[in-house]
Amino acid sequence: MSESQPPRRAVPAGLEERVRQLLAPFRGDRTMTVDALKVIQQAYGYVPPESLRVAAEELGVSENTLDGILHFYEFLFPRPVGERVIRVCSGTVCQALGVPVILRRIRERLGLRWYETTPDGKYTLMPLPCYNTCAYAPILQIDTLTFVRVTPEQVDEILDGRLEGVEGLPCGDGKPTPPREEVEL
Ligand code: FES
Repeated sequence: MSESQPPRRAVPAGLEERVRQLLAPFRGDRTMTVDALKVIQQAYGYVPPESLRVAAEELGVSENTLDGILHFYEFLFPRPVGERVIRVCSGTVCQALGVPVILRRIRERLGLRWYETTPDGKYTLMPLPCYNTCAYAPILQIDTLTFVRVTPEQVDEILDGRLEGVEGLPCGDGKPTPPREEVEL
């Protein structure tokens, strides 16, 4: 059965050459798809959808495969984002334990709704899927830092850098969730 391909996108001038250069170390290595997309994101701040065809050729995988990976991992961005990405868990438990009020505070403070970026390009707000770490609900992340059992009152402290987060909690990069007693606020 033939695999349906995403619509063919025009590749902007310069992008093709740069992506090929960036992915030269991964040429033909189908096991490095996620790392390759991370490298593209490091260079552009996100993974331009137009880069997928070139990356697919370099890696020897289908463009569909890369498109699926790009939209599966929440740490990969298919569109431009702000300097810092705020993610708030959109799962049922987090929702029940205060996420709507947390989102209201973020909206009051930064004027953001889902997927929006502040006009100064500093923050983007995105949903975080539930990683079955609901014991820590509600969960909020800023970049790779995770904040657990967040209260609406802590939103300002978090945004101002006055509250310490945990590196690598359920951020989808394979790092283990620390045991409950190791999570300190
Ligand atoms: S609902 Fe938020 S971690 Fe499960």
